[in-house]
Amino acid sequence: MSKDQELRKSAYEEIEKHQSLVESDPYRLHYHIMPPVGLLNDPNGFIQFQGTYHLFYQWMPYKTDHGAKLWGHYSSEDLVHWTHEEIALTPSEWFEKNGCYSGSAIEHDGKLYAFYTGNVKDEKGNRESYQCLAVSEDGIHFDKKGPVAHLPDGYTAHFRDPKVWKQNGRWFMVIGAQTEDEKGAVALFTSENLMDWTHAGILAGAGQEPLGEFGYMFECPDLFELDGRDVLVFSPQGLEAEGMNYQNVYQAGYVTGTFDPGQETYEHGAFTELDHGFDFYAPQTTLDEKGRRLLFGWMSVPDQNEQDHPTIAYKWLHNMTLPRELTWQDGQLYQQPVQELEALRQGEAVEHQVTLNQESRSLDGVDGKAVELMLSDIDVAEGCMSVAIGGNARILYSRGQQVLTLERQSYVDGTVEKRQVEVPQLDSLRIYVDTSSIEVFANDGACVMTARFYPSVQDTGIRFSSSAAVSFYLRKWNLAKVF
Ligand code: FRU
Repeated sequence: MSKDQELRKSAYEEIEKHQSLVESDPYRLHYHIMPPVGLLNDPNGFIQFQGTYHLFYQWMPYKTDHGAKLWGHYSSEDLVHWTHEEIALTPSEWFEKNGCYSGSAIEHDGKLYAFYTGNVKDEKGNRESYQCLAVSEDGIHFDKKGPVAHLPDGYTAHFRDPKVWKQNGRWFMVIGAQTEDEKGAVALFTSENLMDWTHAGILAGAGQEPLGEFGYMFECPDLFELDGRDVLVFSPQGLEAEGMNYQNVYQAGYVTGTFDPGQETYEHGAFTELDHGFDFYAPQTTLDEKGRRLLFGWMSVPDQNEQDHPTIAYKWLHNMTLPRELTWQDGQLYQQPVQELEALRQGEAVEHQVTLNQESRSLDGVDGKAVELMLSDIDVAEGCMSVAIGGNARILYSRGQQVLTLERQSYVDGTVEKRQVEVPQLDSLRIYVDTSSIEVFANDGACVMTARFYPSVQDTGIRFSSSAAVSFYLRKWNLAKVF
């Protein structure tokens, strides 16, 4: 049996061996992408290819920890219902033996081209990094072409996560990098034929303007146009917490500016975090056939208490965010759950016109483990209002401080921890609860907060509170279980 066949066989055996345990976990999610067993991290190769959406993912099927990753694969016709496909890539060759790391996919001449990083480590832990290509006719079976882009001078081997696109008839690739003086950077490559790649320099980096000191490594870059501006998304490592910003172990966010494909340069502004919650990293986007810029993120952060998640007892770990549509309106980036997710709604909405005055209460028909809540026309004249989920997570808005807070009980030690973001005025809140995950889209997605949380299994309660007079219109739907 070849190495590839062996790795596939043992991954499928892991799924089978642990399926009933995995599925018995009360914290298993109902409508978020998860691994069938083991650990999932970054979204990879996100593409709509021949009409079908494909989402590949970093997968370690043999344990709930990081290691020599495979590319797992889900496909979907509607971004709601997903089929777990055959394993796309296993780390079977010398140039990827310690992991088929993150990468992207494009369509070319009717084929799907996947670019990914071959991670290699020797016995002493020295790292090598190869940017590899694998081509697929059907989006399922891949033919590995091996390394196509090599590590240029000036960088360490922390060089990974190629994202490829076409512009002005040429191919471009951004790569997450670390320079020799240990500063995070986004490297640019160009190609005429997808096989031969030339290093064109650093597109954005720590230690250069306008970012300045900005950490020691950038992961998972993604450069794309959004309503006339060029957005560069990346995940920097090594930032210090600063007020409400950069509270997680590592960050994920974006800068905007102008990419000049002829000069191969990028002028850009300051960095903004994409998500202000606890668990969001390594997002990746694609442009779909409807012309929408869609994003998936990994709902976790590397090295952030990963081994303390209770799901580990059930042999699985981590999940994706919901698919989000990105738009740019009035000088601001918006992220909204894709419209297709309305198909998850079961039956009619429960609706209430709610007024609260220094009280805390539940509302008829408003509870559940897998629900969507839409609070609109929010009026907090003074004081605070809050929504508490399962006695564990709480979304709190303070009119006086103009701050939106997401609190949860830590799954490590039970203490209450929080993430915060400035919101001058709160008009709407759309909240997706899925047994052990919460995604909050404030003001039509101008501000997003994402987290895992672990409420007690019997607690389906949702409570609304205020410290002064508050009113809003509430709609609530139960959401379907599609996983
Ligand atoms: C980001 C990351 C990538 C790497 C992958 C390995 O979470 O560290 O830089 O390619 O995960 O699984």
